[in-house]
Amino acid sequence: MAKDMASQVQTACRTDWPHVVRLVCHHLPPERRTVAAHQIAAQMERGELSAESLRVVRGPDGIGGAMLHLCLPGHSAVVWPPWAADGSDRQAVEDLLVQDALRLLRSRGVTVCAAELACETFSTFSPPLLRQGFRRVTRLRELALDLHFGLPTGLNVQPPTDLQFLPYCEADPGQFLATLEETYQDSLDFPEVNEARTAQDALESYRNHGRADPRLWWLVLRSGRPVGVVIVDLARKPEGNLLYLGVVPSARGQGLGRVLLAHAARQSLAAGASSLTLAVDARNAPALRLYRRAGFRGEGQWEVLLAILGAEG
Ligand SMILES: CC(C)(COP(=O)(O)OP(=O)(O)OC[C@H]1O[C@@H](n2cnc3c(N)ncnc32)[C@H](O)[C@@H]1OP(=O)(O)O)[C@@H](O)C(=O)NCCC(=O)NCCS
Repeated sequence: MAKDMASQVQTACRTDWPHVVRLVCHHLPPERRTVAAHQIAAQMERGELSAESLRVVRGPDGIGGAMLHLCLPGHSAVVWPPWAADGSDRQAVEDLLVQDALRLLRSRGVTVCAAELACETFSTFSPPLLRQGFRRVTRLRELALDLHFGLPTGLNVQPPTDLQFLPYCEADPGQFLATLEETYQDSLDFPEVNEARTAQDALESYRNHGRADPRLWWLVLRSGRPVGVVIVDLARKPEGNLLYLGVVPSARGQGLGRVLLAHAARQSLAAGASSLTLAVDARNAPALRLYRRAGFRGEGQWEVLLAILGAEG
């Protein structure tokens, strides 16, 4: 039966999209499911999400399983855990769907594949991913800073006079990339991902996040020497998103993190944002301390699973 099904893992038909999209949202917290299903269906209708992202297994009684994978720029991807109908072949169907997704992603040159699961549902939805080589690496914390009343006092900080924020369009792209890469050294923020992808891949993923606007990317120079980068995304305005903030190792521990964060918040405010959100690795103590002291709050936590994909073989 499972062997028969292998040949039946296929791209979902357009007529099945509404139903299948609801099935693949099964792992999300109930309050997020409807919105997520609408967003995915709309993105597929607009062609922003490839139809191939939605794969199904057809059984004798209709759709027996479904899974969503999203191929992202920068050789990375995100998968959602598979859904399988109740029955004796459930585990086989789940395994087929994950194997199928990984095969497709590998064939498209993906090297890092992530899955995020709400902590309370981890034990229910992680087994099919863990069986196919994903490993649990950390928790992701979602934090937000309220900007409705202006810049919080925790960020009322004056930058040193020799500090310069150079917008990406005025910076040397090579220097921006090299500085980004340097900030990854000894980073506690998803080091597994940084090891598996190049800084160029990371830059591509920031570039394609939302409606990337490199006017909100800055290379930070101190006395002319690069010391850090700040990357903000305002695609979901009035919610601003701090995609990345990093300080090179030799300049850490001198208060620059707070100055860079204040710059991100000030610029987001000036561009009309009423909040600034971010996601941070729960192991990243320095960053968490920095964000909490600045006034970021939030309880949202996600388990992160990663699969590092080698060449097909
Ligand atoms: C996180 C990071 C930006 C902080 O930059 P920084 O210039 O060292 O930050 P600051 O000097 O302003 O210090 C910020 C806070 O972190 C604390 N901190 C610094 N190093 C720390 C460490 N190793 N462990 C625990 N706390 C630490 C500081 O004491 C300070 O807290 P305080 O104000 O209560 O004293 C920097 O470590 C970095 O670039 N890391 C790699 C990239 C990264 O993790 N980016 C965050 C992505 S979400």
